Amino acid sequence: MLKLLTIETSCDETAVAVATDEPRILASVVASQNELHDEFGGVVPEIAARAHVRQIVPALHEALDRSGTALSEVGAVAVSTAPGLPGSLAVGLTAAKSLAFALGVPLVAVNHLEAHVYACLPSLWPDRSRGLEYPMPVADNQVFPCVGLVVSGGHTSLYHCRSPLAFELLGATTDDAAGEAFDKVAQLLGLGYPGGPAVERAARGGDPARHALPRAFLHDPRLDFSFSGLKTAVLYGLAPPSAPQGHARPGTPLDVEHLRRPAGQELADWAASFQEAVVDVLVAKSRQAVRRVNAGRLCVGGGVAANRRLRDRLVGMADEESIQLVIPPLCLCTDNAAMMALAVEKLRIGKTDGLDVEANPRPERQR
Ligand code: KG4
Ligand code: ZN
Repeated sequence: MLKLLTIETSCDETAVAVATDEPRILASVVASQNELHDEFGGVVPEIAARAHVRQIVPALHEALDRSGTALSEVGAVAVSTAPGLPGSLAVGLTAAKSLAFALGVPLVAVNHLEAHVYACLPSLWPDRSRGLEYPMPVADNQVFPCVGLVVSGGHTSLYHCRSPLAFELLGATTDDAAGEAFDKVAQLLGLGYPGGPAVERAARGGDPARHALPRAFLHDPRLDFSFSGLKTAVLYGLAPPSAPQGHARPGTPLDVEHLRRPAGQELADWAASFQEAVVDVLVAKSRQAVRRVNAGRLCVGGGVAANRRLRDRLVGMADEESIQLVIPPLCLCTDNAAMMALAVEKLRIGKTDGLDVEANPRPERQR
């Protein structure tokens, strides 16, 4: 049995896991940085990179200890090299290269968005009952072939995934990611970071039809997304009627300081209307993608997959389209290193990387 050490530091989680080649997860450690970025309402790249430098070695120790693995037992090292924040990726990649060099074992570079789809493999889940397999259960531990939807703070992408090693990008966001829109709108509404859970909580009891907000590309055949106009529409909606001319009007910068802060039912209505607009688009584009490639399965990953409204609406869509829907447990939706066990599929066919491999921070559509 090969033991694989996996490292994921693409954004603001310092994550290390130990996996077997089944694959099964022996230990998965995620050191969050949420409290460091809270006051800025979003991830500050410089702060994230420095925190990874502090946290990476303790996280490595903890993953090895918890899995009862000696460094000498590690048979390969996997690391996310794309996409992500350059400074953050560099910390994980340097740690992985150093370990692979010192131990004399293979290094495997993994695209962390592809790993988000791989996280839908039930054998990776710590407790199967906490994932969403609809209709229940996924009897065959299968993920591929599928359409993969990755919705996180940094990415909103749809893939046609024929196998663990054949991902085709079908579409992606042209500006903000869905999670980023949640975070920015949370800031406008005076809620904390991360914004997704805060907006979801605030939306309870709200009327999703109260505000007519834009749904970009909804009837467009392209499978791309755009969320920046939605965020701006919320900004204009919150601008006080007495705002000086030009304040919070098209072409002027965000002036969060002078916005009205809705409360009570008004806050709930704004949060619910915004959430519904995001969910409408994500569900519609996923349905379009499934139909286009004639997929029988939709696998969802990324932090936004935690959203209850999105989950419920995806279940409804899966029913209508007669497809299987898989959403991993929450700890495998958000950034983690367990999903990096995708590397075992590469190892199986000898697809390893040299110690000169570089990080590629750019989103896929810009490559
Ligand atoms: O995948 P993730 O942990 O990190 C990356 O961005 O790679 O995703 C974090 C994102 C944040 O933008 C956060 O606001 C969003 O996922 N999120 C949610 C919810 N929980 C987390 N968005 C909507 N509803 C949620 N319940
Ligand atoms: Zn991610």
